[in-house]
Amino acid sequence: MNIEKIEEEIRRLKEEKNAIILVHNYQRPEIQDIADLLGDSLGLSKEAAKTDADMIVFCGVSFMAETAKILSPDKKVLQPSLGAGCELANKITAQDVKVLKQKYPDARVVSYVNTTADVKAESDVCCTSANAVNVVRNIEADRVIFVPDRNLASYVQRFVDKEVIPWDGGYCYVHEYITKEEVLKAKEKYPDAVILVHPECNPSVIDIADKVLSTGGMVNLARESDNKRFLIGTEEGIIYRLKKENPEKEFYPAGRKRFCWDMKMTTLKDVYLCLLDEQYEISLPKGIVDSAKRALEAMLQYT
Ligand code: 13P
Ligand code: SF4
Repeated sequence: MNIEKIEEEIRRLKEEKNAIILVHNYQRPEIQDIADLLGDSLGLSKEAAKTDADMIVFCGVSFMAETAKILSPDKKVLQPSLGAGCELANKITAQDVKVLKQKYPDARVVSYVNTTADVKAESDVCCTSANAVNVVRNIEADRVIFVPDRNLASYVQRFVDKEVIPWDGGYCYVHEYITKEEVLKAKEKYPDAVILVHPECNPSVIDIADKVLSTGGMVNLARESDNKRFLIGTEEGIIYRLKKENPEKEFYPAGRKRFCWDMKMTTLKDVYLCLLDEQYEISLPKGIVDSAKRALEAMLQYT
C-alpha cells in the first residue's frame, strides 16, 4: 500500500470505530500529519480525559497511553508500537518512591507524568513539564519529593520557597546530554535567535536559555512571538511541527539533533494495523488504576 492509501484506510477505520488519534509532538512527521490532536503530555492527557470517542490510539510512548487508559478506563486505549517506552519513566520503581517516603515522612510526593502507573499510584499528585511549578507551588506541604527527573526538580526549585527533594537517578538521555557549549555555538551562528529549551535539560543549559518550556509551550510561543529565528533545545521531532505552523520563521536544533528513539518507533503501518486489528491494547490492574487516577485527577485540578 502506498502512503495515500494507508492514510485513507486509517481515516476510514477511525470513522468506522469512532476512534481518536492522539499524537505527541516528538512523533515522526507522517504520524503528526494524521493526528486528531497533536500536543504535549498535558494537552494529550486533558483530551484523553474528556473525549467521547470509543477508542483512543495513542502515538507516543507507553506512559502516555497508560495515562490515557487511567483517565478513561472504560475506553479501549491502543498503542500502535508495542515496546515504545520512556527511558526516564522506566528508571524508577514504586519501591524507590516508598524508600523516599520512609526517609521524608512529612513530604508529599509529586511525580512527573513520565512514570509507570504503579509509581503514580505511590504519588499524591502528578505533573507534566507544563504545570510542574504550579503543582509544586500549590500542593499543601513544605517539603516535596519530586520524581523521577532531577533536572525538572531543580528547575522547579528555582521558583518555589518549599524544599524540593529530587531523586538522583532520574534524567532523560535526550535532554541531559545537550551541552551548554553546543547551544552557545549554535547561538554564535544565529545571534538573533531565541533559545527555547525543555526543563528536562541540565541546569547549565537552563541558565543560558531565553525560555524554558514544555513542548506545547514552545509551540505557543513560536506562534505568538515576533521573533523570526529560534534554537530548539529538545527532541528534534517538534521542529517539523514548528516549521509547518510557522512557515515564515526559522527553527534550528540548539546544537546536535537529539532523538528519542522510542518516540520514533511508531510508523504509519503500525497505526493502520493498530486500528485494523485493535492492537496493542493497554490494560492495567484495577487497584493501580484507581490510585494512579487519584494522582492524575489531582493534577488536572491544578491546571
Ligand atoms: P512534554 O510534556 O513537554 O511534551 O514533554 C514530554 C517528554 O517526554 C519530554 O521529554
Ligand atoms: Fe522519555 Fe526522554 Fe523520550 Fe521524553 S524524550 S519520552 S523523557 S526518553
